[in-house]
Amino acid sequence: MTEPPATPDPVPGRTGPAAPPADPGPAGVSVRARGLGHRFSGTADLFTGLDFDLLPGEVVGVCGPSGCGKSTLLSILAGWLPPHTGTLETTGIERTGWVFQNPFGVPGRTALDHVVLPLLAKGLDRAGAETLAGTAMADFRLEAVRDRPFRELSGGEAQRLMLARAVCSAPDLLLVDEPTAQLDLRTAGTVNRTLGAIARAGTIVVIATHDPHTREACTRVLDLAVAAGASSGGEDDGEDGGAAGAAAAGGRTPAPGAPPDGGAAP
Ligand SMILES: Nc1ncnc2c1ncn2[C@@H]1O[C@H](COP(=O)(O)OP(=O)(O)OP(=O)(O)O)[C@@H](O)[C@H]1O
Ligand SMILES: [Mg+2]
Repeated sequence: MTEPPATPDPVPGRTGPAAPPADPGPAGVSVRARGLGHRFSGTADLFTGLDFDLLPGEVVGVCGPSGCGKSTLLSILAGWLPPHTGTLETTGIERTGWVFQNPFGVPGRTALDHVVLPLLAKGLDRAGAETLAGTAMADFRLEAVRDRPFRELSGGEAQRLMLARAVCSAPDLLLVDEPTAQLDLRTAGTVNRTLGAIARAGTIVVIATHDPHTREACTRVLDLAVAAGASSGGEDDGEDGGAAGAAAAGGRTPAPGAPPDGGAAP
C-alpha cells in the first residue's frame, strides 16, 4: 500500500466537513483551496469541489486526461485566473515561478543569458550570476547548450532552460506544466529528481503531467479525473482514469502498471 500522505487533506473533490486550516509550517508558506471549481464561459465544469492544501517540501502532481483542466488549475494557483467557484488562500507566497507547456525565450540570446537574468535582477554581479546559473543548468543537463542561442534549442532543452531560470528566481511556489512530455527517460528522470530536490529545499512544486514516471515521482497527486465534471470535460487518453479511485483515497498513487510503491520518489 502507499504510505498515507504526510500533509493534510489531499483529497480532490472531497465533500466532507471543512478541513482545518493548513499548517503553514515553519516558513509560514502555504496554499489552501476549498471548493475550487472552474468552467469557462459557455463550457461545462472542468472540475468542481477541489479541497487541498499545499506546503513546502511537496511535489504535487496535477493529473488527468487531456483537456480536463490541468493547465487551468495552474493558472488559478498562479493567481492569473479567478476560480469560478470556491476559494484559494495563499500565505507567504511572495514569488511564483511558472514554466509553461510551450516555452518561449529571446531567439538571439544564449541559454546562459536566460538563466542569468533573474540572478542579475536580484543584484548579483555577472560572474556570481554565471556561476549559479551554470549550476542550475547542470542540474537540468544543459551544460552542452550553455552558449547556444535560444532559437537553436530543442523543445525539451528550451523547457528545461525555463526550469533552470525559474529555479534561479527562488520561487516559493513553482508551477510546471508537462516538464517531461518532450524528454527521453533518462533526462526526464533527472528533471524529476531535480524538482524533488527543489521541493525539499523549501519550495512548493506543482507539476501538471501525463507522464506516469513523473506522476510516480510526486509526493502527492491531485487527479482531476475524480473531480466532478472532469469525466465529461476531458478527452480520456487512457493514462489516468484507472488511478482516479486511488487518488480519491488520497496520497501518492502508483502509475498504472507500476508497483504499489515503486520507490521512484526523489
Ligand atoms: N480561455 C479559455 N476559454 C475557453 N475555454 C478554454 C480556455 N482555456 C482553456 N479552455 C478549455 O478548457 C479545457 C481545459 O484546458 P486545459 O488547458 O486546462 O487542459 P489540460 O488538462 O491542461 O490539457 P492538456 O493535457 O492537453 O494540456 C479545454 O477543453 C480547453 O479547450
Ligand atoms: Mg495543459
